[in-house]
Amino acid sequence: MEFPVQTANPAKVETACLVVPVFKDGDLLPAAAKLDDASERLIGQLIERGDFTAGLGNVQLIPFAPGLNAERLMLVGLGERDKCNEGNFRKALDAAFDALAGLPVGDAAVAMIDVPVPNRDSQWKARMTAEASLRAVYRFTEFKSEPTPAAKLERVTLLVSESDDAEHAKEGARIGAAVGEGINYTRTLGNLPGNVCTPRYLAEQAEQLGKASEGKLEVDILDEAALEELGARTLLSVGRGSEEPSRLIVMRYQGASDPDEAPHVLIGKGITFDTGGISLKPGAEMDEMKFDMCGAASVFGTVKAALAIQPRINLVAVVAAAENMPDGRATKPGDIIKTLKGLTVEVLNTDAEGRLVLCDALTYSERFEPASVIDIATLTGAAIIALGHHATGLLSNDDDLALDILEAGETAWDRAWHLPLWEEYQQQLESNFADLANIGGRPAGTITAACFLSRFADKFPWAHLDIAGTAWQSGKQKGATGRPVGLLTQYLLDREADAQVEK
Ligand code: BES
Ligand code: MN
Ligand code: ZN
Repeated sequence: MEFPVQTANPAKVETACLVVPVFKDGDLLPAAAKLDDASERLIGQLIERGDFTAGLGNVQLIPFAPGLNAERLMLVGLGERDKCNEGNFRKALDAAFDALAGLPVGDAAVAMIDVPVPNRDSQWKARMTAEASLRAVYRFTEFKSEPTPAAKLERVTLLVSESDDAEHAKEGARIGAAVGEGINYTRTLGNLPGNVCTPRYLAEQAEQLGKASEGKLEVDILDEAALEELGARTLLSVGRGSEEPSRLIVMRYQGASDPDEAPHVLIGKGITFDTGGISLKPGAEMDEMKFDMCGAASVFGTVKAALAIQPRINLVAVVAAAENMPDGRATKPGDIIKTLKGLTVEVLNTDAEGRLVLCDALTYSERFEPASVIDIATLTGAAIIALGHHATGLLSNDDDLALDILEAGETAWDRAWHLPLWEEYQQQLESNFADLANIGGRPAGTITAACFLSRFADKFPWAHLDIAGTAWQSGKQKGATGRPVGLLTQYLLDREADAQVEK
């Protein structure tokens, strides 16, 4: 997808479809006003006659527009002017691009940068526009014998009213395109079935990203022998019941001029299928446990976005990949395993496996002497009970880091919500037989899961993102969302901006 930027009078723009946002109050934004003048008050009249109401996300296509060079005009409702915020802006974008993706048009020109979103500049609006257009054209048709036709949309021109804004819009589109591609890559990895997307498949993805990066990304794959040698027995304990061998995947990107600058580390939970193991899950909707590698998928998507954006920071991505199956060799409830850190864990429930692969990945990350570590995991069903499907759960041992993540989530509109990680919760993990148990009972399941991880994150500022509620959608819309690639990429860009200020 291409995103050229134009400052021309929108009435003169030659395009298959001109997309024009309108507030409910009917006061036209600059681009809409120019179009209205050129088209014998087409827009004003549609609103006056009640043929178009500008409710948030309402889309109306006008197939012929007199006086304009565009072949079609699309009006997009922004709703109430005084409620205009990041979320509503994105809703309007999604509605417009979903409609565009279903039309036989190869190009469109959008006047979304005109929209006054409080505290957000043209660069931000251009980013959101590019990201939304890529998300809208995404299809996952690999396994259909007769693929549904792909969206035709290939070029989205960003119209800007002030020529000063053109450079900002260009930079925004560059970043938004990278984020959109990262999100779609994450969605594809998430949507792939468990019989295709195995730990070895994920390792291959890393190798391919490395090859395509022309030396920008170094990739290390630790196989089971290497993990045994290292002592990552807890990670290995999860895959013991599976025919698919486990992997620890490490990707290193050096963007800072100083190779020794402390890196930011992202760790993804990559359970390519979670049956629960011997603590077998009930059958209903178990297919959705192919999405249990969405944390890993979001790390891959963020790496892909970072490779496209090339931020001047150092980044290490770690993916802990295993398949959780019941079997004669599988880990049993009550088994005690020694972690890479040396602490022993009593596995009271083999379905609490995410924390078991992540704890060794956290310990492994100590060697990078990181500036920050964020793990991303579809860790607990309890996160869905607490926050539903809107917010990612955030827990951290460092309040500054938590605030940075919350802010990145607001900017990307891929939001997280901070839950407490108080000492009082730790006692739920006490075990009679080992240093700690891998479950803490029903109360505060998301918090006790994070408490478990925190025991392995004492050497660096660390945050945990529980994406159980946000990584995929169920029902008719079933599919991976690509979250939280937007948040993570923004977090990295913000760290780059911090580093430039310090220099
Ligand atoms: N992958 C699941 C968490 C999950 C379940 C995410 C449903 C999204 C939807 C995780 O491995 C798991 O099974 N967690 C258990 C933990 C429990 C045994 C302490 C859970 O949440 O039930
Ligand atoms: Mn599980
Ligand atoms: Zn799981």
